[in-house]
Amino acid sequence: MEVTNVTEYQAIAKQRLPKMIYDYYASGAEDQWTLEENRNAFARILFRPRILIDVSKIDMTTTILGFKISMPIMIAPTAMQKMAHPEGEYATARAASSANTIMTLSSWATSSVEEVASTGPGIRFFQLYVYKDRNVVAQLVRRAERAGFKAIALTVDTPRLGRREADIKNRFTLPPFLTLKNFEGLDLGKMDEANDSGLASYVAGQIDRTLSWQDVKWLQTITTMPILVKGVITAEDTRLAIQAGAAGIIVSNHGARQLDYVPATIMALEEVVKAAQGRVPVFLDGGVRRGTDVFKALALGASGIFIWQDLVVLTVLGGGDGVS
Ligand code: FNR
Repeated sequence: MEVTNVTEYQAIAKQRLPKMIYDYYASGAEDQWTLEENRNAFARILFRPRILIDVSKIDMTTTILGFKISMPIMIAPTAMQKMAHPEGEYATARAASSANTIMTLSSWATSSVEEVASTGPGIRFFQLYVYKDRNVVAQLVRRAERAGFKAIALTVDTPRLGRREADIKNRFTLPPFLTLKNFEGLDLGKMDEANDSGLASYVAGQIDRTLSWQDVKWLQTITTMPILVKGVITAEDTRLAIQAGAAGIIVSNHGARQLDYVPATIMALEEVVKAAQGRVPVFLDGGVRRGTDVFKALALGASGIFIWQDLVVLTVLGGGDGVS
């Protein structure tokens, strides 16, 4: 089949991947209302194009936190990429570098910060989940910094894992031949099987539900990396994030995998941009599938966007060369 857009990769992924893994990658929380809305909201936004403007020279380069990249499209953090392909995060890292853009590595990657750094040069951010054991967090942040990561994307929408019903039905767990590599050696790299979702149980056991704005300040005492707060969808939290020292905001609903019935991110973007008042850059992820979606987000004030959903499939099929 000739593939002409990234959405078409999803059908191929469904054919190729085991059901438990495909469902984990593709599902939203509960009724998946927000999952659909993340796309539908983009579809409701129309252009008012102006004509007869010289567009023969287009420059898509941009600067993110001081780093020049080829386009305002970066890679969102997603867990456990080796479930899709043995190269997993390595392929994503190579693809990001060859496209000259930024990759964000998930805390729950199946490759460690050091391993990803060893794939070669590249601008990389590290996505952080805050564990109850703060020594684990401090160690991990230090390792990311030493491995040359340039910023922390602090995920703030996951005090518990969203209720992903397919994962519950499939008894989703990390396949035993894989490890959450960043936590190997800390006895936190494996996921037990559970009566529902193994990942949900892991989160309930390890992730710190007391996380608050104080901790955003604490993080700044243990690292010099700038902190992006990932998972903001209101003006109120935008103001608090800036007060707490955030270097940027990522408007995100976690790909609709956490709280269902929150607005599409593209609907929340304007209020966040307005509240930020240009003090910090605002980024967006969620439902971006086409160049026109990127353009809509930029037109509504985003400084850049992060993508994932279809990227896993691009890397599966392309072994890292598919994204450019
Ligand atoms: C995610 N996301 C995510 N976010 C995060 O902060 N840490 C993580 O480990 C993960 N893992 C993860 C796995 C999978 C399979 C998906 C689909 C998503 C959320 C991700 O960073 C981003 O917010 C969304 O994926 C953006 O929405 P789209 O592009 O998937 O619609």
